[in-house]
Amino acid sequence: MTARIIDGKAFAQDVRARVAEHVARIKEANGITPGLAVVLVGDDPASEVYVRSKGKATVEAGMNSYEHRLPADTPESELLALIRRLNEDPAVHGILVQLPLPSHLDSNLVINTIDPAKDVDGFHISNVGLLGTGQKAMVPCTPLGCLMLLRDLHGSLAGMEAVVVGRSNIVGKPMAQLLLGDSCTVTIAHSRTRDLPDVCRRGDILVAAVGRPEMIPGDWIKPGATVIDVGINRIERDGKKRLVGDVDFESAAKVAGAITPVPGGVGPMTIACLLANTLTACCRAHG
Ligand code: GUN
Repeated sequence: MTARIIDGKAFAQDVRARVAEHVARIKEANGITPGLAVVLVGDDPASEVYVRSKGKATVEAGMNSYEHRLPADTPESELLALIRRLNEDPAVHGILVQLPLPSHLDSNLVINTIDPAKDVDGFHISNVGLLGTGQKAMVPCTPLGCLMLLRDLHGSLAGMEAVVVGRSNIVGKPMAQLLLGDSCTVTIAHSRTRDLPDVCRRGDILVAAVGRPEMIPGDWIKPGATVIDVGINRIERDGKKRLVGDVDFESAAKVAGAITPVPGGVGPMTIACLLANTLTACCRAHG
């Protein structure tokens, strides 16, 4: 069997085009332009790349992008004061603080200082609680993007066995909540899981979000399963720099029914969902 390749790039383009159309309509009808503030502390090169592409995509969707770059040694009080200013700013509908933060900053405190209504990452404890109790929440962008791809492929996910490998607050845990919300039977596996290959083989849906290059080989995958690879790992092979996922694509594609590639799978969906969340926050703010 050769898996169908899930084209996340094309799907994300479609979402972005729909967001842009909606933005144009509310600008025209109400004179409101959605605004996203992105805060980057320090100069981590990977974060720089992400922040730049988020800003570019925001502007391309017709929204305002406000970038705040702070030095790595910024005192916590200064960062919190900036967030409070953004909370009060009516031109800012979404606030994103790029993670990871330098170690002297308390990420939980920083995230929980963001107004939950502007928390387009869905990381604030209120949004985590709302999602966990099936209420209307801001949903983290990467898991939301994965869910959209899965729904597009399968329609209803009800009754499917879903295995999520990885238990991070950013991907693994909210992904599991979303799959549960769509009536999957969900297992969260992680680095201490016993018999990980066997657990993975249970999944009709396998979501890999561990951050370890090509850790999951084809023979851990149930034949015909849908594989969602969230990993973005930079490696060097044969003297060339490459991006690979958490799944060994070559062997997995021979077993899976459908699989997301890296790059061009989940990655583009994250940014598309960030734009969609910003638009949602703007619409909710203006009733
Ligand atoms: N760092 C890695 N992924 C993310 C994300 O989705 N949001 C933020 N704010 N930081 C990240």
